[in-house]
Amino acid sequence: MSRKILVTSALPYANGPLHLGHLAGAYLPADIYVRYQRLQKRDIVYVCATDEHGVPITIKAEKEGKTPQQIVDFYHEQMKESFAKFGMSFDHFSATHRQIHHETSQDFFLKLYENGYIEKQEIQQMFCDTCNRFLPDRYIEGTCPNCGKDGARGDQCEKCGRWLSPEEIVKPKCKICGNTPHLRNSTHWFLQLEKFQDRLAAWLDSKPNWKDNVKKFCQQWFESGLQPRCITRDIDWGIPVPLEDAKGKVLYVWFDAPIGYVSATKEWAQQIGQPEKWKEYWLNPDCELVHFIGKDNIVFHAMVWPSVLMGYGEYVLPTDIPANEFLNIEGEKISTSRNYAIWLHEYLEEFPADYLRFYLNAIAPEKADANFTWEEFQLRINSEFADIYGNLVNRSLTFIKRFADGKIPPLGALTADDQATLNEIAATKAAMTDALETYQFKKAQTDWMNLARVGNQYFQRSAPWELQKKDPAACGTVLHVCALLIKNLAVLGAPLLPFTMQQAWELLGEAGNVHEQAWEQIGAFVFQEGQPIAQNIGVLVSKVEDKKIQQQKEKLAKMLSGAETPQAQPAAAPLLELQPQITIDEFAKIDLRAGKVLSAERVPKSEKLIKMQIDIGLETRQILAGIGKFYEPEQLVGKTVIVVANLKPAKLMGQESQGMVLAGVYGDNLSVSAFEKADVQPGAKVR
Ligand code: MF3
Ligand code: ZN
Repeated sequence: MSRKILVTSALPYANGPLHLGHLAGAYLPADIYVRYQRLQKRDIVYVCATDEHGVPITIKAEKEGKTPQQIVDFYHEQMKESFAKFGMSFDHFSATHRQIHHETSQDFFLKLYENGYIEKQEIQQMFCDTCNRFLPDRYIEGTCPNCGKDGARGDQCEKCGRWLSPEEIVKPKCKICGNTPHLRNSTHWFLQLEKFQDRLAAWLDSKPNWKDNVKKFCQQWFESGLQPRCITRDIDWGIPVPLEDAKGKVLYVWFDAPIGYVSATKEWAQQIGQPEKWKEYWLNPDCELVHFIGKDNIVFHAMVWPSVLMGYGEYVLPTDIPANEFLNIEGEKISTSRNYAIWLHEYLEEFPADYLRFYLNAIAPEKADANFTWEEFQLRINSEFADIYGNLVNRSLTFIKRFADGKIPPLGALTADDQATLNEIAATKAAMTDALETYQFKKAQTDWMNLARVGNQYFQRSAPWELQKKDPAACGTVLHVCALLIKNLAVLGAPLLPFTMQQAWELLGEAGNVHEQAWEQIGAFVFQEGQPIAQNIGVLVSKVEDKKIQQQKEKLAKMLSGAETPQAQPAAAPLLELQPQITIDEFAKIDLRAGKVLSAERVPKSEKLIKMQIDIGLETRQILAGIGKFYEPEQLVGKTVIVVANLKPAKLMGQESQGMVLAGVYGDNLSVSAFEKADVQPGAKVR
């Protein structure tokens, strides 16, 4: 029975264009794998979709003054087009805001709930008073409690990869308005991950061949012990939690997104008119489920998602999760927020898709981060793809045109060299098969290049330009061998370079589609007698000019200098009009004194008010101030502040306030004025 394989690529958030990092991480390797397996005639389905929920989407929509729906629709179309132009051969590309996905996700939630893996809990959630809303996930930014770096988001730290929750963030800030949020109660539902720990550990132990980065990551998590994880959110964009007492809550995007793999398969099955067919993959323990992802997605795919599948029961578990590391560009991290990236749609305006496939796969971040540079791009294309492979095709076909009337000449008696060269096809096939089965796509491409190199050297050694004069039949044999190499290279290279290999196929005068050939036939291909090659052979792989590389480098340099200008400062708050003049005598009526804060505490049931006991030398005053959003009480104790000492007492929330503390108020921020030197005596006059 033929192997059944279901392949997925991480669902990209539909909140911005695709860039090189996406391609190198989760898409190019998956596409190579899938194309190879199709040539092997395996029963394989490849699905993907846009990830359309969660905070990345709503933040983008808010920033642009659009609805989330408008944002996801736009990027869904744009991504679909970019992927198609790079040859990503999905069987289906769905979207998570479709009904089929909402239903599937709610079914998963309910099933896990009934099976006792989801529990309700009252928790404290970050809330922003200014914005009057809860701040889940990426609505919070601050310092990472794990690595100490700034810019950690409420759900994850990009720097160290640590999975976080908002309340762990040090010095949290509201991403919308910049204020400091505080905790407020809210009811949420938790996935009881700890109930899966033993099963997960045993399952991971049964996967000794997984990549080290994935295994190491899981090990770390096991050591710290799995905890219940909140899988619901207080936002209004997403999949409603299907429970009576969960009105207004939606599922956490990382709960629904991987379920998108299932929904996309269901939708695919419907569209091919066999709506039950998805079950042959998902509900089949013999199906191989392979998730291609970038390393930042490891925890979700190797821990959370398998737990969800186990909790549901019936479903197959991932067979492998070949996670890639990151791709840097000219030594810098790709950053969409700083606009430092090479966008796929922009790349395509300048160069062919296969050039990028070739170079990205040559440096694929399979085991460590990789670095893209335009100079190396040019070098690899010119000195390998063009000079070796392109040259072999060009020379061979030109000679066939010139010496054999444009028809592939017959294969005569083979010399030892002819035979040895032909033998290289089978050797390359074996090596590439092994590499492709084990996700070593970089290695597969090196093997392929080596066969082209062997062909080129063989052509050179055989010197058909001389052989033609001495022994035309032997020359014909050499050209036939070269044509056979090109034909086999086309099928071997079809997963790697789908567009160029189809062109090469046609140049040889082959009918049909190179992608519909069989891997099995490699090494056994023949030509029809007197097969005519294409009329117009042109140049299959042309070189990249210096000028174009220079332009691209300048473009990146500009991005970087733009990105390096200090982050735009929050716009200064509009200043208030000046008040009418007063005399010095009028000012003297205000009795300002230095006061030392002896103690401070929050006023119960108030988010704003802090009650302080302040020593103003002559007596101790109780003063209430609306500074609770900006200070913790203990930050105030010991400070010497400025007190308006002759202000008429007032009642605030039922408590007397005997004066006022001065503070600078700027926009949505506030800072209490305090003396720089600690030795100012309480009671000292302030003038
Ligand atoms: N949208 C996520 C990201 O870009 C990936 C989701 S993968 C899935 O990081 F499995 F959840 F779909
Ligand atoms: Zn806010």
